Amino acid sequence: MQNKVLILDFGSQYTQLIGRRVRELNIFSEIKPFNKPPEDLSEYKAVILSGSPFSVRADDAPHPDLSEIRGKKPLLGVCYGAQYLAHFNGGNVEKSNTREYGRANLSHVETGNPFLEKVNTGSQVWMSHADTIKQLPENTQLLASTHDVENAAFKFDGEETYGIQFHPEVYHSTDGKQLLENFLVNIAGIEQTWTPDAFVETTVAELKEKLGDEKVILGLSGGVDSSVAAVLLHKAIGSNLHCIFVNNGLLRKNEFDGVLKQYEGMGLNVKGVDASARFLDELAGESDPETKRKIIGRVFVEVFDDESKLVKGANWLAQGTIYPDVIESVSATGGPSATIKSHHNVGGLPDYMKLKVVEPLKMLFKDEVRRVGASMGLDKELLGRHPFPGPGLAIRILGDITRDKVAILQEVDHIFINGLREWGLYDKVWQAGAMLLPVNSVGVMGDERTYEKCVALRAVESTDGMTADWVNLPYEFLQKTSNDIINKVPGVNRVVYDISSKPPATIEWE
Ligand code: XMP
Repeated sequence: MQNKVLILDFGSQYTQLIGRRVRELNIFSEIKPFNKPPEDLSEYKAVILSGSPFSVRADDAPHPDLSEIRGKKPLLGVCYGAQYLAHFNGGNVEKSNTREYGRANLSHVETGNPFLEKVNTGSQVWMSHADTIKQLPENTQLLASTHDVENAAFKFDGEETYGIQFHPEVYHSTDGKQLLENFLVNIAGIEQTWTPDAFVETTVAELKEKLGDEKVILGLSGGVDSSVAAVLLHKAIGSNLHCIFVNNGLLRKNEFDGVLKQYEGMGLNVKGVDASARFLDELAGESDPETKRKIIGRVFVEVFDDESKLVKGANWLAQGTIYPDVIESVSATGGPSATIKSHHNVGGLPDYMKLKVVEPLKMLFKDEVRRVGASMGLDKELLGRHPFPGPGLAIRILGDITRDKVAILQEVDHIFINGLREWGLYDKVWQAGAMLLPVNSVGVMGDERTYEKCVALRAVESTDGMTADWVNLPYEFLQKTSNDIINKVPGVNRVVYDISSKPPATIEWE
């Protein structure tokens, strides 16, 4: 692919957002740590330098060699990236003595430069920096200023190298996407051909070539990623894709049968394995959250392994890994060290399985996975499903797990989630679920005193699950849901709503 953009990461919290914003322009982008740039730069038509928690003036700050890039291809420095370009080319970067966080407006915009086409004076931009460029290098042209930040955008003479102090990737920069488009399309001449349809076409062709007529095993979870991966692979290799969907007994009410039917309706070659009893027996009496997770992970591997062996001659394992799981990130604390998050959707498979791994979604962000799914005609409801943890209801039943507790929580969860759908709230919430608490409390029903379980409802807004805030659900909805739960689910006499953000709380209670 010759139409790519390279984003060099200096550890900014916004680096992934740059990648997503570029992709929204139908241009493919890749994020690499600044200290591990790709060896072959010829595939990239433009380079963007990210922001950073460091000060360019610090000795341990990222100071990469840009000699293979500067002047050779269009280059855009954002925030730290801009300060880096200014500082090491005769400019002056110092600690800022005015507040430079949050919204600002462009008070001056140079006219006639293609970099700022359709970006006007007054346009809102998002600032987030402690240092500021006090003086630009001599061989630069000032392109834009705000009230507090004179050197908000600039260009080096005689080369397509730009710097901007604000963050075009943040939604609050209202013309940020326009500015990225100006840089990538007008200046770098990149074609906007990265679309879901194009991705499906090239990926299916690549998978056909790579897998030939070999057999592939894939663990379906009912979630978006594994489902989209399955449909892509199915398009490429048809019935040589063998999907396994394990019921661990900790799924939502009716989920196993419902999702299985949906998969079969999609033409997938899928085997449903009901291992509920095995999981629940092994979990009996265990209360520690991490031990519960470990038991579920181990039993999953055992079940999956047994089932895989039944698919004779399979030598590939497909996984629904997505891009945020594989991006090498630059640590914002403890120096710019690179770490790789490893991720196994199927819970970490043992080496002895000796399967080669194929991950068709590993270059996609979550929103792109959804768009690719939509372009292949996947059901809207499946694509819009909330995330659901691998260990399922086990980490929402605080303390030990019994079949009765699972049944109670399934009913409660069902009422809550159905209610969200009926009230048109489901798509406004990132994730929702109910927790069964290990406390009984006193209640009164009719003339009788009760001493029964308490459940907590949780609904959060988030973009990636790393941070989250509770959703301000309408009181009328909460009132109706609480009544329904207490009236319809024997064993529950009290409902509470969780109003904690993450951090410091987590989304799940265990
Ligand atoms: P927390 O509770 O850490 O959850 O705020 C963040 C996101 O991760 C999900 N989660 C898990 N997913 N296995 C999973 O596959 C797990 O053990 C697990 N624990 C939490 C959680 O549902 C939320 O989306």
